[in-house]
Amino acid sequence: MGAEKKWLFTLFSTTIFSILLLLLYSISVFSSPRLFPSLVQHGLHSPPAFAYYLFGGKGDKDRIFRLLLAVYHPRNRYLLQLGADASDEERYRLVLALKSVPAVRSFENVDVIGKPDRFSSMGSTHIAATLHAAAMLMKLDRGWDWFIALSALDYPLVTQDDLSHVFSSVRRDLNFIDHTSDLGWKEDQRVLPIVVDPGIYLARRTKIFHATQKRLMPDAFKVFTGSPWVVLSRSFLEFCLFGWDNLPRTLLMYFNNVMLSEESYFHSVICNSPEFKNTTVNGDLRYMIWDSPPKTEPHFLNGSDYDQMAQSGAAFARQFQKDDPVLDMIDEKILKCGRNRAVPGAWCTGRRSWWVDPCSQWGDVNVLKPGPQAKKLEETILNLLDDWNSPSNQCT
Ligand SMILES: *[C@@H]1O[C@H](CO)[C@@H](O)[C@H](O)[C@H]1NC(C)=O
Ligand SMILES: *[C@@H]1O[C@H](CO)[C@@H](O)[C@H](O)[C@H]1NC(C)=O
Repeated sequence: MGAEKKWLFTLFSTTIFSILLLLLYSISVFSSPRLFPSLVQHGLHSPPAFAYYLFGGKGDKDRIFRLLLAVYHPRNRYLLQLGADASDEERYRLVLALKSVPAVRSFENVDVIGKPDRFSSMGSTHIAATLHAAAMLMKLDRGWDWFIALSALDYPLVTQDDLSHVFSSVRRDLNFIDHTSDLGWKEDQRVLPIVVDPGIYLARRTKIFHATQKRLMPDAFKVFTGSPWVVLSRSFLEFCLFGWDNLPRTLLMYFNNVMLSEESYFHSVICNSPEFKNTTVNGDLRYMIWDSPPKTEPHFLNGSDYDQMAQSGAAFARQFQKDDPVLDMIDEKILKCGRNRAVPGAWCTGRRSWWVDPCSQWGDVNVLKPGPQAKKLEETILNLLDDWNSPSNQCT
């Protein structure tokens, strides 16, 4: 009898002790930041992080929201902008939509710019808006490595785990800028309305805008041009923004009121800077198809383009009609993300089902799980880096 009582008491106290231990353990897990698994780590020993500037105009709220989810990762930073033509109500509804995403609420890494200055994508005010966004992103977050601007008409072809994984093996001072100094037939003509011709960007485009004024080819620097879609390193943007050199400012003035200055500004700054010109990789990592005859903007991609696009090894594609079914194909086959849900990555630990968003719960956000698309992007980058030191790549 006595022995059984003693045994029961031992069992009882052991149980209580275990419960207490468990309680203590869980308290320590939740109160100690060192054990908290979702702390974002930055720096050379962590995977690279990206600062995204997503911009659109009136009526683009839903597209911007969808694009954000398609490029979302807790380690990145995002700045969203609806143009001056959008209403405050639309801007407010975008903020509300963001608040419905648990990770966005918790990691607080997405901001929406209030009423912006009016800008047209044709003038250099677009460059001013981009520089302004980059400056804000720098102030908001010290951890990111590369800056990427996307318009509401763009969409990714890789997951963020893919992108960060592939960029892990890229030197963090490199800039992806498709560029050339071959301005075509105008070069002979000394008097060069650089201003005017979107066709200098790609020979496939021939539509010409006429400037009312011509100007002399500058002597102090050489004009470069190329794709307006760039991936810029933090150090190069610091040079452009807080420049210890006058060049970025001089060029900003030179390109003022120049049409499509975004096809020349960063290209000319980097290629005229001895400290940065050798950090230029000649590629824009975009997939686009130009209509024939070419127009100012590339062809709208649709389901017929899917296979070629998915095989292209590009990181992003443009341009798409709003909610084109091909975007659903990308969501399903590449991003594996459901409607109104963030693109999943290794950080998402929720059980995947049609009523549970796997990214409504998370673990360590500093680990990556690249998928099959990473291989293709890796090939693209390796090819670009192979060409990196060849004469054709070197700002000539
Ligand atoms: C570029 O050249 C500078 C010297 O002009 C050098 O310090 C830097 O390491 C070079 N960068 C690359 C990426 O080769
Ligand atoms: C895609 O667009 C092209 C040209 O605009 C058209 O011929 C083709 O039928 C479209 N494909 C789909 C799947 O909508």
